[in-house]
Amino acid sequence: MTLNIGVIGTGAIGRDHIRRLSHTLRGSRVVAVTDINAAQASRVVQEEGISAEVYADGHALIGAADVQAVVVTSWGPTHEEYVLAAIAAGKPVFCEKPLAVTAEGCKRIVDAEQAYGRRLVQVGFMRPYDAGYRQLKAVLDGDRIGAPLMIHAAHRNPTVADSYSTDMAITDTLIHEINVLAWLLDDQYVSAQVVFPRKAPKALEHLRDPQIVLLETAKGVRIDVEVFVNCQYGYDIQCEVVGERGIARLPEPTTVQLRSEARLSNEILMDWKDRFIDAYDVELQAFIDDLARGQLTGPSSWDGYLAAVTADACISAQNSGAIVPISLPERPAFYG
Ligand SMILES: NC(=O)c1ccc[n+]([C@@H]2O[C@H](COP(=O)([O-])OP(=O)(O)OC[C@H]3O[C@@H](n4cnc5c(N)ncnc54)[C@H](O)[C@@H]3O)[C@@H](O)[C@H]2O)c1
Repeated sequence: MTLNIGVIGTGAIGRDHIRRLSHTLRGSRVVAVTDINAAQASRVVQEEGISAEVYADGHALIGAADVQAVVVTSWGPTHEEYVLAAIAAGKPVFCEKPLAVTAEGCKRIVDAEQAYGRRLVQVGFMRPYDAGYRQLKAVLDGDRIGAPLMIHAAHRNPTVADSYSTDMAITDTLIHEINVLAWLLDDQYVSAQVVFPRKAPKALEHLRDPQIVLLETAKGVRIDVEVFVNCQYGYDIQCEVVGERGIARLPEPTTVQLRSEARLSNEILMDWKDRFIDAYDVELQAFIDDLARGQLTGPSSWDGYLAAVTADACISAQNSGAIVPISLPERPAFYG
């Protein structure tokens, strides 16, 4: 069976998802697209060589009879409206992060989905689908290093656009660590603090970069995440778990090891799209396969909500310099 998908937003990740849904994955085809930049949407349809109808807006696309599932890849502030519309239409929806730009918005989605009575939403947190993180989780779940005590993590980008602001280091960047580290530890956060080292010379005037986010979990694990988005040298994701009896590190992406000119070296990736290309494939394939089986199992709107609550605490910690308590609600049985 082939799932007919409509994609809202044909920018960077939208186009990437259209490509994989059309040419890489099994059991899906893109039958509808829309973007406020209609010319761009038409160009993507043409360049990807697909026969999808270009709709005037996201609501017309969600209402189209042949659209069985929706992928939301438009700008963050538009996500809540489209996810709520998809739930109202009873159509499954894969929404890129953020699920909504406020925790209250995420909660409205959680409430609407529960009122509908069945999971319809998967959030685009792809790190739990990355082979390296899955290996790391297997080590922890298999008790190979004892209980985790600390995590040292880093999220580094070579550069960011001028529009990137200090709070986006949380909502756009750290949000992936917030999601994946809670999943890795099967734990949740109880407090956050943010400290700022000396500013990097390449950081734009309005941006405080780098930053160190300190998180504490309910089980007492202490986490430090360095967020450094002007590091220049590459897109580099690090994660080291210190356990009672050993240390487990996220594997480096596979690259050719070079012996040349008196050096032993490995290339470092520059683009996030390359670093997690397989994870994006696996997460969307899981969405398609889960729908064929009748039950979504990937990151839920509840995970989107928890990430938003934690992100709010981190932003408050950025502004106050204080240790900000995080009080997360119990996960409802509906979300497993
Ligand atoms: N999971 C990840 O690793 C990951 C990576 C990149 C982006 N994202 C998320 O995906 C979303 C899109 O990011 P991007 O980098 O592709 O941005 P982008 O700016 O390249 O593309 C967004 C597109 O949405 C369109 N758009 C905006 N409002 C719209 C509306 N109301 N209806 C239809 N189209 C609309 C814009 O015209 C643009 O083409 C963001 O929320 C971002 O955080 C997630």
